[in-house]
Amino acid sequence: MEFAGSPFRNEDGSLTEAQKRGWKVFSDPKVGCIECHPGDPKNPSALFSDAQTHDVGTGRVGQDGFRTTPGAVFNTAALEKGVDPYGEEYDVPIIGLDLVKEFDTPTLRDIYASGTYFHDGSAETLMATIDNTATTKDMHGITSHLSNQELQDLVEFMKAL
Ligand code: HEC
Repeated sequence: MEFAGSPFRNEDGSLTEAQKRGWKVFSDPKVGCIECHPGDPKNPSALFSDAQTHDVGTGRVGQDGFRTTPGAVFNTAALEKGVDPYGEEYDVPIIGLDLVKEFDTPTLRDIYASGTYFHDGSAETLMATIDNTATTKDMHGITSHLSNQELQDLVEFMKAL
């Protein structure tokens, strides 16, 4: 399968200056994107996915470092005890979504045309997928040392795929 190419590239299909800077960050082993999202932007068949599953901190299992699941309504034990199901948060998994911490590495092809991101749509923008300053502690690539400019270049690069 060959991908037609993103409208965010130069007209001749080459990368813009910002996208070239972003490709450098993306392929930097200290950042690590390319480990799990392997591919070369010059290769129209590259998928930018390793076809493996990884724990990149996006699971919601209610333990240290993971977001808790709002909604005691799923907690039948709490309901039976007469606890207000909407009153507090319980670390109860939503069956089928929250029992795992590992998710398939998605392709980054045509990512400019789709959103929201991650298995549960919890990242609304491409920038949010690489914002490791919040809850994930550099579990999804190592980006917390990058400057704002480098993060923006990385987003520009992803839009070129
Ligand atoms: C350890 C492997 C790994 C590394 C390193 C990694 N990713 Fe990911 N990436 C994943 C997995 C797994 C998901 C899916 C997570 C989910 O669905 O909750 C993902 C999801 C994404 C998404 C969302 C795609 C979609 O369609 O929802 C983007 C964008 C992304 N990664 C970009 C990057 C960038 C940029 C970097 C480098 C800063 C990076 N990834 C580093 C494994 C990785």
